[in-house]
Amino acid sequence: MCNKVPVLLEASRTMITGSTGFIGHFVAEACLDRGLPTYLLVRPSQNSPSKAATIRFLQNKGATIIHGCIKDQKLMEKVLKEYKIEVVISTIGGNSILDQLVLVEAIKAVGTVKRFLPSEFGHDVDRANPVEPGLRMYNEKRRVRRAVEGSGIPYTYICCNSIAAWPYHYNTHPADLLPPLDEFLIYGDGTVKAYFVAGSDIGKFTVKAMNDVRTLNKAVHFRPPNNLLNINELASLWEEKIGRTLPRIIMTEDDLLTATKELPIPASIVASFTHDIFIKGCQITYSLDKPSDVEVCSLYPEAPFQSIDRCFDDFIQKVLDAAKVTSKPTGKDGILVTTPKPEPPVITA
Ligand SMILES: NC(=O)c1ccc[n+]([C@@H]2O[C@H](COP(=O)([O-])OP(=O)(O)OC[C@H]3O[C@@H](n4cnc5c(N)ncnc54)[C@H](OP(=O)(O)O)[C@@H]3O)[C@@H](O)[C@H]2O)c1
Repeated sequence: MCNKVPVLLEASRTMITGSTGFIGHFVAEACLDRGLPTYLLVRPSQNSPSKAATIRFLQNKGATIIHGCIKDQKLMEKVLKEYKIEVVISTIGGNSILDQLVLVEAIKAVGTVKRFLPSEFGHDVDRANPVEPGLRMYNEKRRVRRAVEGSGIPYTYICCNSIAAWPYHYNTHPADLLPPLDEFLIYGDGTVKAYFVAGSDIGKFTVKAMNDVRTLNKAVHFRPPNNLLNINELASLWEEKIGRTLPRIIMTEDDLLTATKELPIPASIVASFTHDIFIKGCQITYSLDKPSDVEVCSLYPEAPFQSIDRCFDDFIQKVLDAAKVTSKPTGKDGILVTTPKPEPPVITA
């Protein structure tokens, strides 16, 4: 199966598993925006109202919904054959990483998938070594990598680094939260840099990479130079946006290590990644010198990354929108008065 270099079509029939999740919905949206025939594998019994809304949104954009679970190998084989799936992207969550071993077996048995992207979407798990409990998840991701490589399935690993947001050390989906409005927790001395990538860019560049022969059996690293910041710089940028300074509280390495032991899972897992990123520098302490490394900006020099500055503008807009909802009408006749573009906004908690 691995002897032939698969030629990917621009219109690859793509199945995504995990599209109701945080990373998955960005990837699914990007796939649909690119006009690819997109099939979303969705577990039938677990649709919360917000997940149902995500599915409806993606369906309206043209996605085909398939009900099933990746742990059902026979069903997966049937789906892959019946829908003639060429690319499989898994964005399943950190607590289900090993479920992918069954999916790998199904892809191998069918033998027609031209590219598999397992659920990675973070650091290069063969290089980074977080403390527990994060290490356990990395060991599981490493196990999936070895299964994929051992079965000869053509693959691409997406190492997109951090999502563009304030990196709360306890929150699995930091982009769902606004940056702080009361005080910053600064990890260590705040000088260790990391790459911050907008969720929409994670989706956009994943979809570009999956159809690219240059990423075959490679790890694709997201290192947009303009989005490389340390947490002190990130704090200053946010202060510029809100028009005032906030107290900076130091969270030492020991404090973070305590959090990895004392917080419940999954917060403790996030704390171990936070320690790995902002104390140990796991995103920046190695160069891309393996033959299996490719860097996304050199693959697509013409395609811009959304700047962290712009991402923070989006957060400011959310702060203003929230303020509008909670504001009492103050204008004539009870009409809500808002300032369209405050310069600069002075925003308080
Ligand atoms: N770089 C970053 O900053 C960052 C941030 C977060 C996550 N990540 C990584 O991104 C990947 C996705 O994580 P996430 O947080 O986006 O996940 P998530 O929000 O927890 O979503 C998980 C998705 O997987 C689906 N799923 C789980 N088990 C399944 C199964 N057996 N069969 C079918 N679907 C299944 C869930 O479906 P249901 O709706 O049915 O539950 C859901 O859609 C992980 O590898 C994670 O480590 C990276």
